[in-house]
Amino acid sequence: MTFYRSRPFLLGFLGFCILKDLVSSQNYTLIFERDINNIRNCSCFSDVRNCDFNQASVKCDCKTITFQRNRTMSRLVDTGALTVWFLDTSTLGQLLNFTIIHDLKLSLCVDTALPTQYLAIMGLMRLRVQPYGAPEQNLTIYNNGDIKSHDQSSQSSREKSFLFHISYLDTSLFNGNSFLKSYSVENVTSIAENLPKLPYVSLGSTTSNRSYVVTLIY
Ligand SMILES: *[C@@H]1O[C@H](CO)[C@@H](O)[C@H](O)[C@H]1NC(C)=O
Ligand SMILES: *[C@@H]1O[C@H](CO)[C@@H](O)[C@H](O)[C@H]1NC(C)=O
Ligand SMILES: *[C@@H]1O[C@H](CO)[C@@H](O)[C@H](O)[C@H]1NC(C)=O
Ligand SMILES: *[C@@H]1O[C@H](CO)[C@@H](O)[C@H](O)[C@H]1NC(C)=O
Ligand SMILES: *[C@@H]1O[C@H](CO)[C@@H](O)[C@H](O)[C@H]1NC(C)=O
Ligand SMILES: *[C@@H]1O[C@H](CO)[C@@H](O)[C@H](O)[C@H]1NC(C)=O
Ligand SMILES: *[C@@H]1O[C@H](CO)[C@@H](O)[C@H](O)[C@H]1NC(C)=O
Repeated sequence: MTFYRSRPFLLGFLGFCILKDLVSSQNYTLIFERDINNIRNCSCFSDVRNCDFNQASVKCDCKTITFQRNRTMSRLVDTGALTVWFLDTSTLGQLLNFTIIHDLKLSLCVDTALPTQYLAIMGLMRLRVQPYGAPEQNLTIYNNGDIKSHDQSSQSSREKSFLFHISYLDTSLFNGNSFLKSYSVENVTSIAENLPKLPYVSLGSTTSNRSYVVTLIY
């Protein structure tokens, strides 16, 4: 078969890829702090200027939700794309610490230096960060295909395997322009014993003897 004859197929295929890319990149949840007690939870289908709160309210479908600051562990699970605009590490931690998110973008929306604190995210595959006034950077931590297993059979055991992939973001990475870096340690049987400097909360149900993949992002 000549290239000429295969071209319609090729073009169709490329067109499909572009369309697919366009659609999936335009559908995401955006969360930002509105005031001390409320956050805005938006569904967005088009690009919004980074940290432009007013534009988000206009272009996205947003609702205001009461922010329960004192929950010990949130139940947020976001298997789609999530963008969070934040102003301080404590809100960031209260929103996201020890949650399950696959595709996350974090933007710091204020000119301030952040202390080193660890934000733990489970099942994080793709991360984008945007420090204040600096370009966006990205990192792919792992792909869906990397989770091969014995437990791909059911949705719930797949969910569980995400719990064994924990990323720790050093929040001081938002200071300055340094390159986003990551380092993974596999076969960690106990975070508390093997990596005692890292915070860990027991998730209760995980009594099996599976090991963790721990990724440090800094
Ligand atoms: C976009 O969002 C809608 C509603 O939240 C969801 O039903 C749909 O699957 C999403 N589409 C993509 C491509 O993520
Ligand atoms: C934001 O809204 C989406 C869709 O309504 C929901 O699935 C998600 O849990 C909400 N997030 C928070 C933090 O309330
Ligand atoms: C919530 O936290 C604030 C300070 O962060 C504290 O004053 C208040 O007592 C806490 N409320 C509950 C119900 O724990
Ligand atoms: C996340 O939780 C751990 C353990 O409680 C804590 O040490 C850490 O500072 C929290 N991170 C943030 C960004 O709040
Ligand atoms: C991720 O970052 C690289 C290097 O900065 C850049 O070339 C690439 O376009 C970025 N990818 C996405 C999806 O933003
Ligand atoms: C992790 O453990 C598996 C199974 O025991 C082994 O095959 C693999 O080489 C180990 N990986 C590392 C990085 O030690
Ligand atoms: C623990 O590991 C052993 C051997 O690797 C295995 O036979 C056993 O089923 C595991 N237990 C659990 C609860 O996963």
